[in-house]
Amino acid sequence: MLNPRRIRNQSFSMAARGACAALVTLFFVFVLITNTSNKSISNDVVDQREQEEGQGESPGESSKNVVVDDGVSSLLERIKVLEDELSSLRTRMDDADDKDGNVGVDAVVAPLPTTKSFPSVRYRNEENRKRVLITGGAGFVGSHLVDKLMLDGHEVIALDNYFTGRKKNVEHWIGHPNFEMVHHDVVNPYFVEVDQIYHLASPASPPHYMYNPVKTIKTNTLGTINMLGLAKRVKATVLLASTSEVYGDPEVHPQPESYWGHVNTIGPRSCYDEGKRVAESLMIAYNKQENVKIRIARIFNTFGPRMHMNDGRVVSNFIIQALQDNPITIYGNGTQTRSFQYVTDLVDGLIKLMNSNYSAPVNIGNPEEHTIGQFATIIRDLVPGSKSEIINLESQQDDPQQRRPDIRRAAEQISWKPQILMKDGLLKTIEYFRAEIDRNKRGGKPVPEPVRHGGLESRR
Ligand SMILES: NC(=O)c1ccc[n+]([C@@H]2O[C@H](COP(=O)([O-])OP(=O)(O)OC[C@H]3O[C@@H](n4cnc5c(N)ncnc54)[C@H](O)[C@@H]3O)[C@@H](O)[C@H]2O)c1
Repeated sequence: MLNPRRIRNQSFSMAARGACAALVTLFFVFVLITNTSNKSISNDVVDQREQEEGQGESPGESSKNVVVDDGVSSLLERIKVLEDELSSLRTRMDDADDKDGNVGVDAVVAPLPTTKSFPSVRYRNEENRKRVLITGGAGFVGSHLVDKLMLDGHEVIALDNYFTGRKKNVEHWIGHPNFEMVHHDVVNPYFVEVDQIYHLASPASPPHYMYNPVKTIKTNTLGTINMLGLAKRVKATVLLASTSEVYGDPEVHPQPESYWGHVNTIGPRSCYDEGKRVAESLMIAYNKQENVKIRIARIFNTFGPRMHMNDGRVVSNFIIQALQDNPITIYGNGTQTRSFQYVTDLVDGLIKLMNSNYSAPVNIGNPEEHTIGQFATIIRDLVPGSKSEIINLESQQDDPQQRRPDIRRAAEQISWKPQILMKDGLLKTIEYFRAEIDRNKRGGKPVPEPVRHGGLESRR
């Protein structure tokens, strides 16, 4: 039976061989012509030099021979190099022929990409399909947002400078016609025609944002100005991923959006906290002055798969320590409180907020509050057989003592509240980290040590 691939390969090979033969012939004609004309040019140059220098016949004759010999020998060298290249090409083509006489074209040219299968996405027509830009789209939260919007049938552009994000987080969409990945730093302007901008680009964990505080401030200020400028130009709605850190070490508990916060402007966290506070001010200014449609999400601690292994956040640190039977380290006495939400709840909240008409800040977080000490025990108990002991280390500067969102505004304005039980989210996250640790071990890579929040010490 006729095999179309084989026919295609054979005809390609014949065409390639024909082209090679024609190239070789043309090459030799070219070499002959070049050689002759070079010789005559060389002779002319030598004759002229002889006349200028008034040299006798014998020395002139010898320098003429030297110049001509140099020209010929360099041409011969070039011919030799090209002949070698041709013969190596022929050998590679011959090697690619299989035993049945099939020509293995795939072996000599880059193979054509095989069809990649994607998760099936909802169909949307032009009218209700949105073009969405997600800055920080290769990060932890950004990549889950990419998933949700892609599955919902929108066109998504994920922009990232890969400071803390990874292509791996979105690689399952690369090649999909609705998806585009852009390597770009938001500190520089970026122009694209979009309907919505989710502005998430910013390092989010203390060791990452303290690593280069100046860059963190630039990302949150210049980056936000660039996204607001873009939104103004193309009339897009822009959502800022702000943070509960704008409340600093809060004196009001739980924290409603009306609380102005308690931030140390010169502390190690200020590059992030103040960066986000300025970003919120910019959002409001562009809204008031330029009529840009804005949304401000104040995100509380979030966890889930695709968190970094070594970004120093409580959940990832505790899970990795528990999975390896290492001591679970608590900074301070463990009475400071946190509330953690699962990442899919956050993504739902961001999308609801974006599609609302609400411009003031909205808290998105899970109000289920635990002390850090309780978290350590909960996580260790969820890792079967973990023998980790729980130890206390020196507390960290400006570590907030309590954190819990008041989410009444989210319920009223965007009909949102978290759906995932913390325990269920933790079990999924533990499975993710277990697989990551196994993958690291199989690849011979060490499992990263949990990072302490100690500011610039994370550089070392
Ligand atoms: N995860 C949380 O608990 C949490 C809490 C509050 C607020 N937030 C906010 O949510 C957003 C996403 O956080 P995350 O947890 O996914 O963090 P992440 O570090 O996983 O993601 C941030 C992404 O932004 C990218 N990025 C950083 N600087 C950039 C720049 N200058 N240009 C382009 N891309 C850049 C990073 O490479 C990364 O992909 C952040 O803005 C963060 O401040 C997160």
